This record gives sequence, structure tokens and C-alpha cells, in this order.
Amino acid sequence: MSPNSTKTWCLRLFPILLFFISCVTFYCSYAIIQSVSRQTKLFLKLEDFFWREHLASRLALPYGVKGSEPLLLKALAVLADYQVPDNIQNLECRTCVVIGNGFAIKNSSLGSIINKYDVVIRLNDAPVKGYEDDVGNKTTMRFFYPESASFNPGQHNEAGTLMVLVPFKQQDLRWLKEILYNEKRVRKGFWKPPPQIWLGDTNKIRVLDPHFLHQTADRLLRIPLHPNSKQQPVHPTTGILAVFVALNYCDVVHVAGFGYPKTNSPRHPIHYYGFDTMRSMKNSYHDLDHEAQALRRLENSGAILYLHPHL
Ligand SMILES: *[C@@H]1O[C@H](CO)[C@@H](O)[C@H](O)[C@H]1NC(C)=O
Ligand SMILES: *[C@@H]1O[C@H](CO)[C@@H](O)[C@H](O)[C@H]1NC(C)=O
Repeated sequence: MSPNSTKTWCLRLFPILLFFISCVTFYCSYAIIQSVSRQTKLFLKLEDFFWREHLASRLALPYGVKGSEPLLLKALAVLADYQVPDNIQNLECRTCVVIGNGFAIKNSSLGSIINKYDVVIRLNDAPVKGYEDDVGNKTTMRFFYPESASFNPGQHNEAGTLMVLVPFKQQDLRWLKEILYNEKRVRKGFWKPPPQIWLGDTNKIRVLDPHFLHQTADRLLRIPLHPNSKQQPVHPTTGILAVFVALNYCDVVHVAGFGYPKTNSPRHPIHYYGFDTMRSMKNSYHDLDHEAQALRRLENSGAILYLHPHL
């Protein structure tokens, strides 16, 4: 064969080779998709309650909606929207960063990097103003519960920030209903008084599907869902929950501000803001060691990436 005809042959073979490679790639990614069941529908919507799925729920809050249906129906009926905005929902590849409230992010200068992600998830009432250099100023979603709500979400969020209520107990949904309908506030049943006035935009409220807390507890942390009466109930923190939600919703999940200080000093600050110390975390309803191990497993498997050095 002359060198020229070899070249022609190669050129003819090339498309066949390409086709073969794409088939293999497609088959592999298909297999991966099959083995991971991700739920990308994040929020409860009114229509769900006309279907069996939620009506057949066998778990009560925080892991299911059993017994809370009437409260949910009332609250969801006045919420305008149950979706993530289209400009994010329609992205083919969603990059997300979950910003924990930990001291580790202080002086990190990560702000401008954090602002570049499609989705920035923040937790509870963590401030942004005055900390932009380290934590950025973009907030796509903020996960919170009544005790961790700030009365004026406009202060540390954008106009478009989705305020995602994580219901841990029925009172949390009652709080939302009372705010939405401007009813008399019932103060009982909270471990810390939640705001009685809430200046957030109703159109931006979403209620996280308890499926995610259930899966975080059951699959990621493997904590007992039905502790016996002597055991203090343990629930996942909003931080590890947000990471789990991001793993479902996003194609890329990076985290910052997770982890507790290595020092044993009870006076060491734990947040990048304020004056809470390690001491305030004692007697919490969370299993922080367990969560740290779970995060380490996720990091070692490459599922998440930290934006800063950590322990
Ligand atoms: C952060 O930077 C400020 C100003 O440079 C410094 O005073 C402070 O000690 C630093 N804090 C930490 C935790 O590194
Ligand atoms: C964030 O800060 C930048 C620079 O200061 C500013 O241009 C931008 O509008 C801010 N974004 C939000 C959502 O506040």
C-alpha cells in the first residue's frame, strides 16, 4: 500500500471509530445515571397532595408530611411558585457551592470565587453584608427554619433569593401559615422564639420536600429514624442537608465554611460572624462527629470539593 492509500483508509475508519467511542461513552454514562437515583424536584407543591405519593406518606416531620397535610395545603395554596427559576433549572450543567457558617471561611478571600457559581446556597441567618470578601454576596437559596430566620431577609439576601423553609416540626409549618395569612402567632413549641414579623417576599418562599432530610438521615448519616424514648432525637444540620440537596440537584458541588475548629478550647469562635463559641454547640440535637465523617467520605470519593484547606 502506498502511504497515500493508507491515509485514505485512516480517514475512512475515523468516523467509525468516533461512532464506536460515542457509543461506549453513552453506554457508560447511561449506566452511571441508572445507578444513581437523584431527585431534582426540591420543593413541595400543592399538586403533590392530589397524588398518592404524599398522601401515602408514613413518616411525620421532619422526615415526612404525615399529619401535616392540612397545614401544608393552606400554606402551599398561597405560595405563588414551587420551582427553581428557569435560568437555573434549564442549565445543562449546574455548578453549586454550599457556604457553611464555620470560622474556617474567615479571611479566606473566597468571595469573588463564590459569586461565580450558578447556585450559591447559604444557611440560616448567616450574614453577607460586611463579609463579602470572604463569603461573596450572591445568594441563590437560603435554607432556614423559624428559629434560624431573620425577621428581615432583605438585609442579607438579594431580591431573587429563594427562602427555603426546612420544616423540622409541625410548628414550623404553622409559623409559616400564620405569617402568610397574618394570623395570631402561637409562640409555643419552639426552642428559641422565631420572628413574629417576617418581611420576606411571599413569592420567594419554598418548602423543602422532607424526602431530602429523610434521605440525609437515613442514607448519608445512617442515624436512627425512630430512637427509643431514652435517646435524645438527633437530626441532620441544615448544613449537611444542603450538601445532600446539592448533590441531588447540581452537577458540581463545592463547599466552604464547613468543619469546626480543631482546638478543644470551649471559647473558640465557631462562626465567621458573631460570638458563638464551641460551648454553644454542646447539647445540640446534632451529631457533629458523624456529620464530619460523612463529609470526609464525600470528599474522599470526589463527590464534593472544599474551596479552602481544612482538617
Ligand atoms: C483576619 O485578618 C485580620 C486582619 O488582617 C486579622 O486581624 C485577624 O486576626 C484575621 N483572623 C484570622 C482568623 O485569621
Ligand atoms: C455584589 O457585589 C458587586 C461588587 O461590589 C456588585 O456589583 C453586585 O451588584 C453585588 N451583587 C449583589 C447581589 O449584591
